[in-house]
Amino acid sequence: MSEAEKQPEVFKGLVGVYADVSAVSKVMPETNSLTYRGYAVQDLAENCSFEEVSYLLWEGELPTRAQLAAFHQETASQREISPTLHRVIREFPHDAHPMDAIRTAVSFMGLEDPEAGDVSHAAQYRKAKRLFAKIPTCIGATYRATKGLPAVTPNPAHSFAENVFNLVQGRVPEPEVLKAFDVSMILYAEHTFNASTYTARLVTSTGADMHGAITAGIAALKGPLHGGANEAVMHMLKEIGDPKIAREWLQSRFDHRALVMGFGHRVYKSGDSRVPTMKKYAEKMAEVVQDRTWMEISRILADEMLTKKNIHPNLDFPAGPAYHLMGFEIPLFTPLFVASRVTGWSAHVLEQQADNRLIRPLSWYIGLEQRPMPSLTARG
Ligand code: COA
Repeated sequence: MSEAEKQPEVFKGLVGVYADVSAVSKVMPETNSLTYRGYAVQDLAENCSFEEVSYLLWEGELPTRAQLAAFHQETASQREISPTLHRVIREFPHDAHPMDAIRTAVSFMGLEDPEAGDVSHAAQYRKAKRLFAKIPTCIGATYRATKGLPAVTPNPAHSFAENVFNLVQGRVPEPEVLKAFDVSMILYAEHTFNASTYTARLVTSTGADMHGAITAGIAALKGPLHGGANEAVMHMLKEIGDPKIAREWLQSRFDHRALVMGFGHRVYKSGDSRVPTMKKYAEKMAEVVQDRTWMEISRILADEMLTKKNIHPNLDFPAGPAYHLMGFEIPLFTPLFVASRVTGWSAHVLEQQADNRLIRPLSWYIGLEQRPMPSLTARG
């Protein structure tokens, strides 16, 4: 039997592989549903704040009023970043992608962390809460530095959503906008073993710390096949520009066998559980701003993709235009995803750590067989 014939089954892209057990969230593709710690994500989005859901992901239960107040107090009081980090952020190249800036800022916060050398469960959890508190401040400071604007000081009285708008845009918008943003944070918070979460777990499996795992997660999230898709969606909608040419534009993508961003999913093949809720709130944003262009182009693309390719939109498809309508610039869309997903990532880091085994798969070698090494003289 030749070597090639003996090759074991290789699961490229780890498609269909169960790499571990987890109690954080559950995707049920057969019913297009998703639960966080047993609660349907659409119920959480409609009835809870992002802070309540963050607490749920970490603690396993929704907080009581007193627990929520204590959680808010603990995290909101830690929102400010150090003067050194503010200075470092101002030194970043102004044309750097904000995802690279946030990745660097998170890594930098690992250097400064008061418990940098401590990877005990309790210290790792405290680091997660610090990152949750400080990442929006890094996003706001980075964005405003590129505009030549001073960073805004976080207000501990603000909710998570109010805080993000204040730090980035320097204003707190009307309640409908805050609600739509909070919904997007809840929907983006967690999604089982996606690429960035698995990356964070893999880093954790080596015994590395929270900041290392989250830095690696951010690097993985940036890619356009993953979180970067929400930015790509808005670039695509802007390129189309006019609902009248949406069908023709899409046909040219089909003709070139090109990907259409914001569509398709590794796990969901008949619809993403999070899309109906996000779409509802993106529609509300279109009403607030009185601009239906993006939602109309989106509607045409979604109808055509379903009819012609039987491919459904994923969460990034309605999230892209929703963030645009909320007044965020496109390069901030994936960093906003980071501000949310840090909760899911860190819940997984803590879970991985609690029952760890080094993640180390095998590769099937297809290179040259062992051969004699020629001396430098023989190589000429
Ligand atoms: N546009 C056009 N065709 C798509 C598509 C898209 N967005 N997503 C999948 N397809 C097609 C594939 O080309 C493939 O066609 P083929 O069988 O003729 O080769 C088929 O659907 C199956 O897709 P596959 O690539 O096997 O799915 P996957 O599980 O490996 O990839 C994604 C999943 C998410 C990476 C993929 O759908 C994609 O690249 N989507 C666009 C990026 C995006 O929105 N990412 C965010 C994910 S939440």
